[in-house]
Amino acid sequence: MQARGPLMIEHRLIEGMIAVIRRKLERAAQTQSIDPYFVDAAVDFIRVYADRTHHGKEEDILFRDLRKKNMAGDHQRIMNELIEEHAFGRETTKALVEANTRYRKGDAPALLEVTAGLKTLVGFYPKHIKKEDAVFFPAALTYFTEKEDQAMLAEFWDFDRKMIHEKYKAVVKGFNTG
Ligand SMILES: [Fe+2]
Ligand SMILES: [Fe+2]
Repeated sequence: MQARGPLMIEHRLIEGMIAVIRRKLERAAQTQSIDPYFVDAAVDFIRVYADRTHHGKEEDILFRDLRKKNMAGDHQRIMNELIEEHAFGRETTKALVEANTRYRKGDAPALLEVTAGLKTLVGFYPKHIKKEDAVFFPAALTYFTEKEDQAMLAEFWDFDRKMIHEKYKAVVKGFNTG
């Protein structure tokens, strides 16, 4: 498998979650309500899987190794866009969490902010993923030897191995300090 393999497989699961969120948004428009626990689950998926686990591998391993290469201006520009989009996703999620907290406490108008945040994520992720799958990953591949690509793949597996431990250490820490 090429190093981009796991990243593309992860894209398919992110698309699956986006489809679920899209369905919940349709429901929310009909009922003028949303289950705050669903929003919690969506946020957990986005923060832990899409951002920490997936964007983490992109930024901390793939982009790091690409920075050591003499990248074409166009490719450099796309990489910067991708990094900005990751940051935009984080900001959107943060605002979503704040709105969901207010909504859960009985602030009914906060529903609009919750659904707006979810809509933003639903609109943004598919485009981001397409840019990576169709344009950036094939371009990135040209900068690496087979050996370098396989070294990244090995580092990806190692990165993933740590994630579940990181997540649940944070859960216990949260309860101890919260
Ligand atoms: Fe990305
Ligand atoms: Fe990605």
